[in-house]
Amino acid sequence: MSNVHLVDHPLVQHKLTLMRRKEASTNSFRRLLNEISMLMAYEVTRDMAMQDIEIETPLETMNAKVIDGKKVVLVSILRAGTGILDGMLSVVPGARVGHIGLYRDPKTLTAVEYYFKMPGEMGERDCIVVDPMLATGNSAVAAVERLKELNPKSIKFVCLLTCPEGIRNMQAAHPDVPIYTAAIDRELNSHGYILPGLGDAGDRIFGTK
Ligand code: URA
Repeated sequence: MSNVHLVDHPLVQHKLTLMRRKEASTNSFRRLLNEISMLMAYEVTRDMAMQDIEIETPLETMNAKVIDGKKVVLVSILRAGTGILDGMLSVVPGARVGHIGLYRDPKTLTAVEYYFKMPGEMGERDCIVVDPMLATGNSAVAAVERLKELNPKSIKFVCLLTCPEGIRNMQAAHPDVPIYTAAIDRELNSHGYILPGLGDAGDRIFGTK
């Protein structure tokens, strides 16, 4: 699977296992997702553009590297994307934020858009789209399609969990968009849930079930 980056760092895998357990409380699920998102931000920003600026150390002047966080847009697919967004913002605090509201039609499992708000000057920006579960892939495909209308410089997709069906769907539609994930699970069930998975990510983040 080219263009799929499996973030298999032991810290990520350990925290993911704790999140999967059905006994994990809303509080610990949210905290663990926050921590994993910070660790995944480390991977997904690895090739981020840097620039030299002149600074003064206590001893002398030097040219040192900084990232231009303002050129990065974290695009959260509502509502579960918020769980990853918070963690990523804590390590890339200068990032801009976009939101795409999509819900899954429970019968057809297709994505229906109800909200779309991005920062200006998208043509100069690198987008990181976040959603914990790349399941059928329909929401991710629709979100990336919408984003591409604004011609951003680049798009990456970050999730916590995916499965072969989601990857196939996403790569068929957007082979140019790299996928970062902490795990590739076995399969989708007939309701569009990932198995073994972790259940409904939105419900587990927000305690709505
Ligand atoms: N969305 C979820 O929250 N969980 C799944 O398993 C699939 C889609």
